[in-house]
Amino acid sequence: MGEPLHTVTTLPTARQAGCPFDPPAELIDARSHSPISRYPFPDGHQGWLVTGYDLVRSVLADSRFSSRKELMRHHPLIDYGDIEVPPAPPGEFLLMDEPRHGRYRKPLVGKFTVRRMRLLTERVEQVTAEHLDAMEQAGPSADLVTAFAKPIPAVIICELLGVPYADRGLFQKHIDTFLGGEVSDEELYAAYTATQSYLAELVAAKRANPTDDVLSDLLDSDLTDEELQGIALILLSAGFDTTANMLALGTFALLQNPEQLAALRADPALTDNAVEELLRYLSVAKTFFRTALEDVELGGRTIEAGTTVILSLNTANRDPERFTDPHALDIQRQEGGHLAFSHGIHQCLGQQLARVEMRVALPALLHRFPTLRLAVPAEEVELRPETADIYGVRSLPVTWEA
Ligand code: HEM
Repeated sequence: MGEPLHTVTTLPTARQAGCPFDPPAELIDARSHSPISRYPFPDGHQGWLVTGYDLVRSVLADSRFSSRKELMRHHPLIDYGDIEVPPAPPGEFLLMDEPRHGRYRKPLVGKFTVRRMRLLTERVEQVTAEHLDAMEQAGPSADLVTAFAKPIPAVIICELLGVPYADRGLFQKHIDTFLGGEVSDEELYAAYTATQSYLAELVAAKRANPTDDVLSDLLDSDLTDEELQGIALILLSAGFDTTANMLALGTFALLQNPEQLAALRADPALTDNAVEELLRYLSVAKTFFRTALEDVELGGRTIEAGTTVILSLNTANRDPERFTDPHALDIQRQEGGHLAFSHGIHQCLGQQLARVEMRVALPALLHRFPTLRLAVPAEEVELRPETADIYGVRSLPVTWEA
């Protein structure tokens, strides 16, 4: 006989008051019972919730678990009873398996290597300095999200893709809408369609007049315009929202951990390590889904073919069996191997870009504003709901001595 089966009946829609950086208490509790729990979806589908580091990592590495959109219940709170989920549209390779996935990922890999991304360092420094200048001039207070965290990665991904930053009004709010997790299905669909029509025009414009960027580079391949649109959508939305939330939530976490902040200020050589620790500690891309293609033994359970498995990356990254004192933010931590960028064939394509952005922007902010602090009590900082794909703060009011 194995361990008794632990069941989680509902998943949280919010984090515990006063713990904005920790995974919801229900998930931490589930992991302490067992690295894998039963999760009955609202429509009665008997799914699983995986919270232990080793099991999450092994599912991510296992091709018997599919990312195909049409197979999975990719929202733990929705009743999928009558919903027919279509396959991911061409180009949107995050929700595909091989060989479809590789058709899109392969031509992109060489464009996001460590070396290529390091070459961007100088440009990231410039863009960061421009935003810090503007923030300083408009200060001594600011919303760090709109002044700093959002625009820096947005400018960079637009430049990489060859999307005019001046056009951002045409798609940024739509992307925010479909990633924010706070609107109805109709609004979500409208935002998605509006972004698609912008991208259709963009791809047509590149065909007519190629420029020096990742999208134009792909015009010579056998990818269709529709596929290029899908790729652009994935890259833009990933590039806009993820690093932005890490920068804002990361700053918030440092301000709330003054001894860690002081250590980083005292020794900028700790920056790379601090960035990895913030990635682990915050795990803003927190929940992913896979569907078993055949019966699979996992952690002493049989995951039946067709069953959806919810992977809690943020809980796995706080697993005490993998990380010492996992709920502490420790920028000198030497235990690598966090899963904040996932693992396996879908491991984040943009991770080297995200690292360059964080390694440049965070220390530049701290250096420019030595007296940076929250402008409101920490409890009043507005958090994104758990239903958002990417966790973070809605805004972060900060101030400093002018
Ligand atoms: C700190 C910032 C970021 C975090 C935490 C993050 C996290 C993730 C995670 C967890 C996945 C894997 C999903 C899965 O296993 O199903 C992923 C995939 C992906 N990310 Fe990121 N990401 C970040 C920044 C970026 C940036 C800046 C880009 C822009 C190029 C990007 C592009 C992608 C793409 C294209 C995929 C899909 C890869 C595939 O399916 O093969 N990400 N990201």
